[in-house]
This record gives sequence, C-alpha cells and structure tokens, in this order.
Amino acid sequence: MNSLVDPLPGDSPRFSLHDFAPAQESFEDAVVEGLSGPRKSVPARFLYDEAGSRLFDCICELPEYYPTRTELKILTDKADEIGASIGPDIALLEFGAGSSQKARLLLDALERPAAYEPIDVSREHLIRLADEIADAYPGLAVRAICADYTQPLELPDSEPRRRRAGFFPGSTIGNLTSAEARAFLSGWAGQLGRDGLMVVGVALRAPSSIVLPAYDDAQGVTARFTANVLVRANRELGADFDVAAFRHTPTYDETTGRLTIHLTSLKAQTVHLAGRRFDFAEGEQLHVEESNKYAAEDFQALARSAGYVAETVWIDPGELFSVHVLRVA
Ligand SMILES: C[S@@+](CC[C@H](N)C(=O)[O-])C[C@H]1O[C@@H](n2cnc3c(N)ncnc32)[C@H](O)[C@@H]1O
Repeated sequence: MNSLVDPLPGDSPRFSLHDFAPAQESFEDAVVEGLSGPRKSVPARFLYDEAGSRLFDCICELPEYYPTRTELKILTDKADEIGASIGPDIALLEFGAGSSQKARLLLDALERPAAYEPIDVSREHLIRLADEIADAYPGLAVRAICADYTQPLELPDSEPRRRRAGFFPGSTIGNLTSAEARAFLSGWAGQLGRDGLMVVGVALRAPSSIVLPAYDDAQGVTARFTANVLVRANRELGADFDVAAFRHTPTYDETTGRLTIHLTSLKAQTVHLAGRRFDFAEGEQLHVEESNKYAAEDFQALARSAGYVAETVWIDPGELFSVHVLRVA
C-alpha cells in the first residue's frame, strides 16, 4: 500500500514520504532457514546492522577496496558527459539510497533535475536523507519511497510525461545472480517506461590479484565485517557461534567473475540457536555473500536481454569499474 504521510509532523513538509511498509524479515527465521539446508548460508543483507554498516564504511576507505573509490572517480570526472547523456528535466529514482553521495554527484551534473526519488527499506534513514536533500536542493521535488526495491510497487505519480532515470550504483547489482539481475532490470523497465533510463554502476571482471585483496584486506576489516553476522546472531538470537573458529574465506573465479565469501568452520562444532542444533564439519562452509563482476559487453548483453538499449558506458583507466547508461527499448 502506498500511503502518503506527513514526513515531519509539525513542520511544513519539504518532501513527500510514500510508505509501502516493507515487511521486516525476521533475522531468526532467516538464519534458521539458512542453516537448515544442505548448503549452509546466511542472507548477506543481515551483515548490515549498526556495527556492520560502520565496518562497511571503513572497508570503503581501505587501500585495497577499489570499487567505491573508482566509481566515485568516474562519476566525478565524467559528470558532464553522464549528465548530458541523461538529459534535462529528469526525475532520478535511486535504488537503495544509503548516504546518497553518488546521487548528489549526478544531481549536480544534471540539467534542471526535476525530482529525486530515493527508495530505501530503512525509514528513519530515508527521512533524514530526504530532508538533507530537500535542504541542499531547493526547488527539487523530493519523493522518499519507503519500500523494498526487489518487490513490485507502484511509483508515486510524477508530472505527466516526466522522464525517469533509475540509478543503481555501488555494483549492488553484482550481489544478485545474473538471472536475478535480469529480472530486476526487466521489472523496472516497465516502470520507467519507454525511453526511461537506468544508470548502473558495475564492477568489472578483473585479475584475482586485484579483486581478492579488496575482500581480504591486510588489516582484517573485511574479515571482521563477515564475522559480524555471527557476532550479531550471538547477541540478538542467543546463539553460541564460536566466532574464532570460523575463517573468512573469499574466493574468486577470474573466468566467470564470481566472487564468493564463505565463513569456513575450522573444526567440527555444534551451534545452538532458537532451540535447535546445527552441526558443522571441519572445513564446512557457510555462504555469506557474493559479488559478480561483469565484462562491460557482458553486462550490456544482459541489459539488452532485459529490454534495454545499452547507450553509453564509462570505464576508469585501470578497467576496474563501469558506469552504464541504459535506455528502455
Ligand atoms: C550500501 S547502501 C548503497 C548506497 C548508494 N546507493 C551507493 O551505492 O553509494 C545500501 C542502501 O540500500 C538499502 N537497501 C538494501 N537493500 C534494499 C532493498 N531490497 N530495497 C530497498 N532498499 C534497500 C539499505 O537500507 C542502504 O541504505
């Protein structure tokens, strides 16, 4: 349901909040389900509690972690070209707004941007961010959408014939399988409408010597980030994971571009959680995250199969990251 609510009761609303009341999946149900299958896993979205989000911010500053830095550099250096390729008077719809640092770069580059529409599941965060953007960009319509962008939703009414550009930075699309990425793109193509645009940041397939250290840094921050999901389960669910008996294990297949992160059990052990017991053999792996990297032409082919024309792609000189502008065919 899309309920339009006064975002800041008592204040004159400087933005609108369209609340779809996204379901909050229970951490306990997800962990129990993930540990019950033949291949144990924990959904990666549970990495981001408060401590996990802080650790992720630290990861973005690490010398080995190139994706954030490289994407920001493309968006900064090529801002004029990207802005021109998107065109004037557009409504920018961001999937997972976070700090909206990258959206600000785009908004600054666009000619007369008409609206900013961040979609995020985190309501408090979204309201704060919408308020900041409304403050920084007087005259810009800000429509904050509290929703899960993987679920179908009816976008708030925009002015008639207003073109929209979706914005999905951060190579977040790489956290989906390619079938899921295609479904995501084709689902939103219908919403963006003919000639709507999609701007997507995608990490490129690169040598292991560059990709692996980005997920296995010398200071061990990425390892702490991964292990934090066990720390969180112990704290929030009363589980008894022996955190030190699991090792952060990233692997990368250069030919497919698939980066996978597991926690490997260093011994045979039993974990208790929600009145159940889960046995781990020595060497057994718990799947935590994956991040698919794409050659630029492979991503364009995926986009075409999802109903887009691949218009332009910008790549950094080191060939580590790409920013694509796609147009709904
Ligand atoms: C790491 S931030 C990305 C920020 C920004 N787009 C960037 O790349 O810099 C991820 C944001 O996406 C939100 N998010 C994650 N999954 C989501 C989903 N399925 N639907 C809506 N928001 C989601 C999180 O709440 C968080 O604010």
